[in-house]
Amino acid sequence: MSHTADPPSLDSGTLDLTPAGAGAAQPWRDPAGYWAELARATAHLPAPAGVLSLPALRANTADLLRRANGVPLRLASKSLRVRGAIDALLALPGFQGILAFTLPEALWLARTCPDVVVGYPGTDRGALVQLAADAQLASRVTLMVDDEAQLDLIDSLVPPARRPALRICLDADASWRSPLLGFIGTRRSPVHAPAEVLDLARRIVARPGFRLVGLMMYEGQVAGVGDAVPGSAAMNLLMRQVQRRSMDELRGRRAEIVRQLRGLTDLEFVNGGGTGSVEATGADPSVTEITVGSGIFAGHLFDTYRAFAPAPAAAIGFDVVRRPAPRIATVLGGGWIASGPPGSSRVPQVAWPRGLRLLPREGAGEVQTPLSGRAAAGLAVGDRVWLRHAKSGEPAERLNEFHVVDDGRVTAVLPTYRGEGKAFL
Ligand SMILES: Cc1ncc(COP(=O)(O)O)c(C=O)c1O
Repeated sequence: MSHTADPPSLDSGTLDLTPAGAGAAQPWRDPAGYWAELARATAHLPAPAGVLSLPALRANTADLLRRANGVPLRLASKSLRVRGAIDALLALPGFQGILAFTLPEALWLARTCPDVVVGYPGTDRGALVQLAADAQLASRVTLMVDDEAQLDLIDSLVPPARRPALRICLDADASWRSPLLGFIGTRRSPVHAPAEVLDLARRIVARPGFRLVGLMMYEGQVAGVGDAVPGSAAMNLLMRQVQRRSMDELRGRRAEIVRQLRGLTDLEFVNGGGTGSVEATGADPSVTEITVGSGIFAGHLFDTYRAFAPAPAAAIGFDVVRRPAPRIATVLGGGWIASGPPGSSRVPQVAWPRGLRLLPREGAGEVQTPLSGRAAAGLAVGDRVWLRHAKSGEPAERLNEFHVVDDGRVTAVLPTYRGEGKAFL
């Protein structure tokens, strides 16, 4: 395999993710053909080569829309970090607005997107001052709050009388307090019971310079935890029970919180969920929108759910650079470990060729990743190995661009946030 530096000529730099019809080709169902085609189309690119398959992206988009069953989808930008993909999705009916991960990012995105909710509280003073100084940005960006101290910080930077009212979304804890298993969920918001949420909401509403417009309750224990993890039969059974009980509890509590909040303020949206919980969250009548992101590029963690099976749309090609033993082939780089609890689920997965695995004592390395297995014997220096990251947005922090492949050729090159010189987090 040889890799030259010449870029291909491109039809366009933009992406059309209009879902294909039911009879659309599903090339990933034939893994040998799929990976061979991606490899051929990008053989001229130096490794690491970030690739997105257009038919896979379209299928994943269509499947999220199908699962949402008409409930609008808000895009989790952290799970994409590629503006060309974000723009292409927002152009489709069914998607509206972005859940950004920092305020500087939100200010950048709000230049073109009129509805950006910052998913997490932040303290970037410069960005807060910029938001408070610009009526248009203030009308487009919503800040996440779960503690009055976050509002005090804003007031200390720009007093309420000297700024437009800032849009606020209240983040309420969606965890499940299991009598037997304890706290199950993400450790985020301190307000959980309806009375606690209402108390904070009243205090927000009473303060000048803020407008409470949204509620977010993210059920990470359902949205972000697979219930069909290979080799974990007992844990999968337990997770299914936990997730069912948790959604039952959440449905009643969320309804009560929303009912009381609506008596206090004009709520524009009630946000919940993530890729792993689209149907469960969408079935809750209190929810007006579902956040999704990971299901588009489909990091391999999202292969472990019963409810859906995304196509492996994103992959990174790494090159074999040495052969330390007959059944070991070593690629340059590869150690892109995903966030979350450290463990084997967070390392990259070899998508192709099949039959390669990481060495337990070395794992995926900063500069070298030895891969062992039968397939290693057939690999030579210069051959390409395809890895999938565990998460969906994090590879964009390592790559300047993704190459979109359709029908055997590169049809678009999409800069990542990093490629645009933007490192937000
Ligand atoms: C607040 C919030 N909502 C939704 C999501 C779901 O995003 P995704 O669909 O990428 O899993 C996340 C992911 O962590 C999140 O933090």
